[in-house]
Amino acid sequence: MQTITTVAELRRALADAHRADKRVGLVPTMGYLHDGHLALIEASRAQCDVTVVSIFVNPTQFGPREDLSTYPRDFQRDEKLCRDAGVTIVFAPVSQEIYPAQFETFVEPGELAKPLCGAFRPGHFRGVATVVCKLFNMVQPDVAFFGQKDFQQCAVVRRMAIDLNLPIEIVTVPTVREADRLAMSSRNRYLSEEDRGQALAISRGLFAAAEAFGLGERNVDKLVAIAKRHLETVDQLQYLELVDGDTLKPASSPLHRPAALCVAAYVGSTRLIDNVILQPTP
Ligand code: PAJ
Repeated sequence: MQTITTVAELRRALADAHRADKRVGLVPTMGYLHDGHLALIEASRAQCDVTVVSIFVNPTQFGPREDLSTYPRDFQRDEKLCRDAGVTIVFAPVSQEIYPAQFETFVEPGELAKPLCGAFRPGHFRGVATVVCKLFNMVQPDVAFFGQKDFQQCAVVRRMAIDLNLPIEIVTVPTVREADRLAMSSRNRYLSEEDRGQALAISRGLFAAAEAFGLGERNVDKLVAIAKRHLETVDQLQYLELVDGDTLKPASSPLHRPAALCVAAYVGSTRLIDNVILQPTP
């Protein structure tokens, strides 16, 4: 495994793979890797000859009052996890490599970036789309892997790849959960034991709604109400919305198209997100 910190070196390392028409997979991350990230790496390993994992805590996707400076980092551990997982290249640039002085060109996503997290994190998806587009240009992967946990991020990235004619397949990997069904997240390390108990309300609510859906409930308000009952105990529910799986606009009753029930909630001072996909069978 190679660890690379500059774009020039990255291009050199990948030149042979591209010339030999090897299938190159990219897993973009902000590090502090967990089993969710490892599932993306595994998916890439299963279908690509070369797997590149980028580790970069992207400043442009954090708001001024968010956790950029305290975002968890442990590069040595990440590097070891990547080596053990069979990663070909870890790309870990310093910030100036991605955002040189006078940087001023951004990718601006449209409607998909407005609801859900977009409504509470202004500029977040602009930062995500920009860095992901730049990583795509640097690595030129055939396929890139994203986690369903960040459902809106997947939608924004997919749309960007189509709109900007990026010849890259976007694969979404199902959410990996702890044994108690809390969605894995680098931010889970902020949770105290008490927070952790409270955080379980999120997946409990989502799965209760999914279960009702499985039993035939198709009314949007009822499904949301079922999830909400469990979520009453979290410190602050930022949003709980059932949205159309493609447009992210509010889903309509009775549900007849794939939809996503999405949550963002604060547990203590930690903001957690999660979702389940409800897929009506015809
Ligand atoms: P990060 O939060 O590190 O996540 C990197 C990738 O891992 C994302 O695609 C995310 O959806 C996926 N992931 C996180 N937790 C997961 C889980 N429990 N199960 C499955 N996949 C999971 O998302 C980002 O970084 C950044 O926004 C990034 C795309 C790297 C751009 O900066």
